[in-house]
Amino acid sequence: MAHDPYHHLHDEAYTAAFEGGFVGADEMVFMVGRARIPLSGSWQFVPDTFDEGLRQQWYRDPPSDPFALDLPRDCDWSGYRVEVPSVWNLNRPEWFHFEGSGWYSRDFIAPALVPGSRVLLRVGAANYLARVFVNGAFAGAHRGGSTPFFIDVTPHLIAGTNTLRIQVENRRAPDRVPMHHIDWFNYGGLFREVDLVVLPAAHVRDLRVCLTPEGVVRITVVTSKDGRADVRFLGREFTIDVGGGRASVEVAAPTELWSPDRPHMHPIEVRFVDDIIADRVGLRTVATCGTDILLNGEPIWLKGICCHEDDAELGRVTSDADLARRFDHVRALGANAVRLSHYPHHEKAAALADERGILLIEEIPVYWAIDFTNPSTRSDASNQLREMIRRDYNRASVILWGVGNENADTDARLDFMGALADTARSEDDSRLITAACLINRETFRVEDRLAASLDVIGFNEYFGWYERPLSRLRDLLDRTQVEKPLIITETGADAVSGHAGSPGQLFSEAYQASVLSEQLEIATAAPNIQGIFPWILYDFRTERRQTAIQRGWNLKGLIDRDKQRMKAAFHAVASLYKA
Ligand code: GCU
Repeated sequence: MAHDPYHHLHDEAYTAAFEGGFVGADEMVFMVGRARIPLSGSWQFVPDTFDEGLRQQWYRDPPSDPFALDLPRDCDWSGYRVEVPSVWNLNRPEWFHFEGSGWYSRDFIAPALVPGSRVLLRVGAANYLARVFVNGAFAGAHRGGSTPFFIDVTPHLIAGTNTLRIQVENRRAPDRVPMHHIDWFNYGGLFREVDLVVLPAAHVRDLRVCLTPEGVVRITVVTSKDGRADVRFLGREFTIDVGGGRASVEVAAPTELWSPDRPHMHPIEVRFVDDIIADRVGLRTVATCGTDILLNGEPIWLKGICCHEDDAELGRVTSDADLARRFDHVRALGANAVRLSHYPHHEKAAALADERGILLIEEIPVYWAIDFTNPSTRSDASNQLREMIRRDYNRASVILWGVGNENADTDARLDFMGALADTARSEDDSRLITAACLINRETFRVEDRLAASLDVIGFNEYFGWYERPLSRLRDLLDRTQVEKPLIITETGADAVSGHAGSPGQLFSEAYQASVLSEQLEIATAAPNIQGIFPWILYDFRTERRQTAIQRGWNLKGLIDRDKQRMKAAFHAVASLYKA
């Protein structure tokens, strides 16, 4: 075909070359205790609204001085620089609402390799779709905006300096998970760490440790080849013969279990040929018995709070300081559980919750009206679920996997989310499965066909805010008969921080405090409720809240967006949780 310098202007099949190469849960590698070569820091960045980067193959272009070119280009990599991790929305005012593709570029030196070793690129999270290019070659792709992914870049490496370019595309779309309608800010970018991982030919792919209902510790090792894995755990050293790439052993449980009051952790180290990985794991069981949730065999009532991964300055980036402050506030509230809404948070959150003895619900963003009939959407949701479970399997703090939020009870949704519940169980038989269901408006009960697939039935209700009077919550609970644990996974009211107002005035702190006080009084007195998760710990950004007093923020936080100023409702909830 004759060369046409204008071909890219009318080639709408420009993604065809990049529709494959998607990686997912099966490409993940166990990372706790593993050495990383950090690539976080200052990267070049180019915003790309119309995907010119793919159309014009920007990923091939060497750095250039526009004045020195022999033919003009529409991109030069020296234009902007951003920090990785970050969200581009907060990097420059003109990018605040930017939804499109952002191109990241940096060079790195290829690590020295012994024969058989592989070099993986690990991206902690990129919202929503990412394509990776190394030295101009397409190396792989990932979709899903909140879970890590690994791409083997070994085949594309050259000795010395290599150029890594990553396209991150954060457009909302009806076939995505979440789809194009959400109540949180659609940040874009590489918002968690980016690293290289050098894997020896023989390595540990996964390590899973759990305390079984029978009271023994099950250790499962997945390796890249058959061989002997040497384990140090609970003061003992023993070997696991791995055949077929996977093996499990059971060992006697220690007396020190993990619990919110005594978050005891046990170090474990696994050596496989030259690969060594390590973790610190809490050992506990979680189960249900009738309408009770049992932690280590004892009923527990979940004094919860919800939290988004959102910050006025950091956007979706999680800093150690931000996380420590989050759990300090959870403790000050007197809560024992956090619902990490509505997507997997940074892995540091569950690691810190392990240390602090805080129980967690982790969930995937199957949120509102998902395209439940679309097979591609279904595989995206299933992959995000499996990535979340594989990443956080060893975190004792995580007691519930959530498979969705506020989805209408249709046949397609039932099939889609029932399959997700089955997938979660097949990935992890040591935890409970839940979802935040809707109230059945026909029967005015918590009655959802998905409940048959769940261990714990969650439901969201906003009596006193979106529907009044609040006393209807009592009617609902009186009418609701379920044989499984029932938890209120969301309830709350907006309040303008600092506006005391009066108990009857919407958006006043007094009103928010009165709603949550009455909600907690009803919930704690209801025999069929085993927990409540007020929405939400902090005010958070959301494009869809545009009254004069919200201006792009959801004000249901018990604490102001500054993460300092506690509203009256914080103290009201704390006094009830600590009563
Ligand atoms: C819904 C939804 C939340 C939302 C909240 C609200 O229940 O699950 O994501 O932010 O209500 O309306 O504030």
